[in-house]
Amino acid sequence: MKFDILTLFPNMFSSPFQESILGKAIQKGLMDLRIINIRDFALDKHQVVDDSPYGGGQGMVMKVEPIARAIEWARSEDPSSWTIYLTPQGKPFNQEKARDLSSRSHLVLLCGRYEGVDERVREMFIDEEISIGDYVLMGGELAAMVMIDAVSRLLPGVLGSDQSAEDDTFTNALLEYPQYTRPFDFRGSSVPEILLSGNHAAVSLWRRKEALRRTAVRRPDLLAKAKLTREDEELLEGIRQGGDGV
Ligand code: 6GU
Repeated sequence: MKFDILTLFPNMFSSPFQESILGKAIQKGLMDLRIINIRDFALDKHQVVDDSPYGGGQGMVMKVEPIARAIEWARSEDPSSWTIYLTPQGKPFNQEKARDLSSRSHLVLLCGRYEGVDERVREMFIDEEISIGDYVLMGGELAAMVMIDAVSRLLPGVLGSDQSAEDDTFTNALLEYPQYTRPFDFRGSSVPEILLSGNHAAVSLWRRKEALRRTAVRRPDLLAKAKLTREDEELLEGIRQGGDGV
């Protein structure tokens, strides 16, 4: 899968994509990432990329021509590309959107700065606008990184066989159960005995119950949407009757 990131701050992207799983995915050729400096597409001597808004008002607006040329260049080899503008005014990003985007072959991500882009960019070049949540960032760069992280871990081969995107939180609409590793006892706090029992069925049941408990306490909105089995309902009933925190 190919990502083109259009930004005025290309250096912001240098380290996140060299590290960890994302860095390996790029090295393995599972993902191809290009960081494109919008300023390189400004034609005037001073490479101006922003200007004051018509009608007056605070701040600066990103000019249409450099963005248009950068987008057209990014798309030029590829008629199937999909162009996204990262803005707090966009549709909220979530796991379903990440899955939807992971089926595309080429994303062009435009990172907004300042007071945003000239409206004609949106009208003429943008397929979709996305926000990563109800708060305002200084620009779309961190939002683009969040999206690329969430999308790329869904691509075949990116996560190792010991990791899985299948039973993640939100894929099956429950929060994940608590995890433990050695030591058994840390400053008097020990690991639940059942996890040492070797009884896989009992461990699975405990984990499902704890996932249900955690979701009920922290995210009742997710629990209401979750597809629960009869056994889940019984476990929840047990949690509620047990008076242990729900
Ligand atoms: Cl995509 N951009 C900016 N500037 N702020 C945001 C955002 C995006 N998503 C949430 N806040």
